Amino acid sequence: MYQLLAHFFNHSKGSLSVKLRAGLKSADELKEVTEILNQFPLTEVILHARVADQLYSGTIDEEAFIYATQNLKHKLVYNGDIFSKQDFADKQNKFEGVDTWMLGRGILMNPLLPNEIKGIGISEKEGAELLFTFHQTMLEGYLEIMDNEGNAVNKMKQFWIYFANCFPNPKKTIKQIKKVKTLNKYNPTVKSIFNEING
Ligand SMILES: Cc1cc2nc3c(=O)[nH]c(=O)nc-3n(C[C@H](O)[C@H](O)[C@H](O)COP(=O)(O)O)c2cc1C
Repeated sequence: MYQLLAHFFNHSKGSLSVKLRAGLKSADELKEVTEILNQFPLTEVILHARVADQLYSGTIDEEAFIYATQNLKHKLVYNGDIFSKQDFADKQNKFEGVDTWMLGRGILMNPLLPNEIKGIGISEKEGAELLFTFHQTMLEGYLEIMDNEGNAVNKMKQFWIYFANCFPNPKKTIKQIKKVKTLNKYNPTVKSIFNEING
């Protein structure tokens, strides 16, 4: 890691932030990593305080995150397991002094979560419209960057594993989406799923 960062800062004028887990196998690895990160002018460090071996199992290692707040010289961004306004409030209470938060799965499961956390109230109709816009933006993005429509649809199917949570019957919704193989089938299926929340 030292060599990688040294190479970057020796050869580039760009800024660099680093996102990392607490370690590969053990959060003890964080100590050595912190010492290396502290030697470089990083913009910020984003820490998801699970070890890689955990994938998404278990919980965030709060001790490891607190270690980072105390020992990293860089601006520290919290990441991990924020799925609700309450989760956010809990993490804010636990990690005083942290003022930047990265959300992953929580937003895929509920793209309106940032609004909820910020206390921005919107009507159900507005919410449904925003969800549709979010969906269309993802789809258009994938259609632009993927080799063909089928691959874009496959990417959207992965997204729906999380996004289905926004609809009244997530299991049924995922089943409907899983069956789809072409964009021609995908579009009307999505329309009928959205009709469930458009009343
Ligand atoms: C579908 C998906 C794609 C992800 N892609 C990346 C990635 O490209 N790079 C990365 O550092 N983390 C990636 N992550 C991990 C997330 O950025 C985040 O660290 C992790 O999900 C924990 O945050 P969360 O509990 O808010 O989801 C991805 C996560 C998901 C669910």
